[in-house]
Amino acid sequence: MTEDLRLDSLEGVGPVTTKKLGDAGIHNIMDLIVRGPVEIADITGMDRETAEKIVNKSRLQLVDQGLIAHDFVSATDIYKRRLEIGKISTGTECLDNLLDGGLETQALTEVYGEFGCGKTQWCHTMCVHVQKPIEEGGLDGRALYIDTENTFRPERIVSIAKANGMDPEKVLNNIIVARAYNSSHQILILEESGAVIKENNIKLLIVDSAVGLFRAEYLGRGTLAGRQQKLNHFVHLLVRIAETYNCAALATNQVMASPDVFFGDPTRPVGGNVVAHTSTYRIYFKKSGKKRIARMVDSPHHPEQEVIFALSEAGVVDPEDGTTKKTTVKKPTAQVGHDSSITKPKIKKVEPETMDSEKKTATKTADAEKTETDATKSE
Ligand SMILES: Nc1ncnc2c1ncn2[C@@H]1O[C@H](COP(=O)(O)OP(=O)(O)OP(=O)(O)O)[C@@H](O)[C@H]1O
Ligand SMILES: [Mg+2]
Repeated sequence: MTEDLRLDSLEGVGPVTTKKLGDAGIHNIMDLIVRGPVEIADITGMDRETAEKIVNKSRLQLVDQGLIAHDFVSATDIYKRRLEIGKISTGTECLDNLLDGGLETQALTEVYGEFGCGKTQWCHTMCVHVQKPIEEGGLDGRALYIDTENTFRPERIVSIAKANGMDPEKVLNNIIVARAYNSSHQILILEESGAVIKENNIKLLIVDSAVGLFRAEYLGRGTLAGRQQKLNHFVHLLVRIAETYNCAALATNQVMASPDVFFGDPTRPVGGNVVAHTSTYRIYFKKSGKKRIARMVDSPHHPEQEVIFALSEAGVVDPEDGTTKKTTVKKPTAQVGHDSSITKPKIKKVEPETMDSEKKTATKTADAEKTETDATKSE
């Protein structure tokens, strides 16, 4: 570990506190910032005031070292920090277009969609692409894959690496896999990941799937609040790690049938508001025959649009017939949102593959607005 990130480099932190923190999975001063004083106090048993002092000191030390920004910063400084944002090309023209260059570091990208739509395939593909040199669209870094559904397949990595002209053995060596067996274990892995990320030049952190274990363990409405609280903690931690360590976070999410949606696509991501409000970017994957459609659903600066991609031995790829065309999704009017049964949205004429989704899009956005507000209620 870098000498100046050691816990005992902080004034007032001796071997006893270092051990306590270490036992709780906090191994360097960046971890202290990521977890925050409330949690530090909870897990170590130290009082809140001491925890605040320690976290404050570590923050000042990281500011001195130029690793994090001051509390009050000029827009220029924020701009500079944003200039450090790296992008991992997806290796496809279509998804790079959708993402404006690729998966961003310092951000959480959530991809959701029904089974078999290609979420896991995309995760595998990105594990390979992140390793490419910067000139070739990668970040010359490694990937950390938190696998909660036992769907990580090294043989898929081998074929994607080969298709990209890379040495499969080397590519496999640069992926660290952590299998999570239950939601508490999943949280623990993430809490412990700081040191692994720092020491292994991890530039891509994947959680596939982020919500699955929580969903399976917390059944029924009575347990919903508890689940959302844990999930909230997990997803916020994910964002803070991505920001602090300047790596890209990619999380997958399943969809559930939403019985109250009669028009458009009756599916929406599991996890409701918690995940939606914390992800920087949200992408919806949808099957369309053999092809797949990816839609940017929520982004602070991308237009809402759709692209077509395909799945192959090489992972996520551009469709062979070149139909990667971007389609800007038209937002429905407020009137449509309130009563989509009487006001039919206008449908733009598009190619057959996108027709289906395009048709549903107009009503879906309105539905999504409606269901988003009661997402936690109806699950
Ligand atoms: N070697 C391959 N070549 C072509 N397509 C493949 C290959 N391997 C998998 N696929 C495609 O990927 C699909 C599975 O995608 P994936 O496992 O990514 O789904 P998912 O979105 O993660 O689903 P779930 O919600 O069940 O986890 C298969 O249906 C198949 O179409
Ligand atoms: Mg999957």
